[in-house]
Amino acid sequence: MDIKEYTENNINDISRLIDEIKTEDVENNEYDPDLKNIKHYQETYFNDQKNKTFLASYTDNIVGFIIGGEKDSETFEIYMHYVSKNYRKKGIAKKLKETITEYARTHNYKEIHSDVLKTNTESIRLNINAGWDKQVFPEFYRFVKKLCKNEDTIAA
Ligand SMILES: CC(C)(COP(=O)(O)OP(=O)(O)OC[C@H]1O[C@@H](n2cnc3c(N)ncnc32)[C@H](O)[C@@H]1OP(=O)(O)O)[C@@H](O)C(=O)NCCC(=O)NCCS
Repeated sequence: MDIKEYTENNINDISRLIDEIKTEDVENNEYDPDLKNIKHYQETYFNDQKNKTFLASYTDNIVGFIIGGEKDSETFEIYMHYVSKNYRKKGIAKKLKETITEYARTHNYKEIHSDVLKTNTESIRLNINAGWDKQVFPEFYRFVKKLCKNEDTIAA
């Protein structure tokens, strides 16, 4: 598995994954045509310099991505992450989250947040297993990790 930064050269890879999300959303009766298209992703995420996207490849195929951005000057937020169905349970989302967390840490954010719908059991488990703190809101859980530059030293 390899993780790299998204560039415009990967637009077709992302489009393909968005199509997969669309298919899953239709199956789950969650499809919103305004949100699940490449134009929306470009306007909302990729054109904003304060956002960051990482891609995961597995045997040379791009099979997952994670998008985050600045929430406020001290907080970075994960907006979404997705791993193609056939490549799940291989640690890809975990690695994507670790990569974007490291990015936020090295860019001096003090916290990273990830809001997760209460129905998304896979994502909830991923956050709990990674040791993120859980805050409860009416519609979602907010998972929070404090970013300390020398956390490894403290942990040791
Ligand atoms: C949620 C999601 C991103 C998780 O992706 P993933 O790559 O399967 O996640 P991981 O592989 O890192 O971890 C999932 C599980 O696989 C397990 N796993 C990791 N590597 C493994 C391996 N080599 N062998 C067996 N299991 C493994 C992990 O321990 C974890 O187990 P757990 O759920 O019991 O804790 C994916 O299910 C997805 O894209 N869902 C749809 C979109 C979505 O909900 N996105 C999040 C909201 S924006």
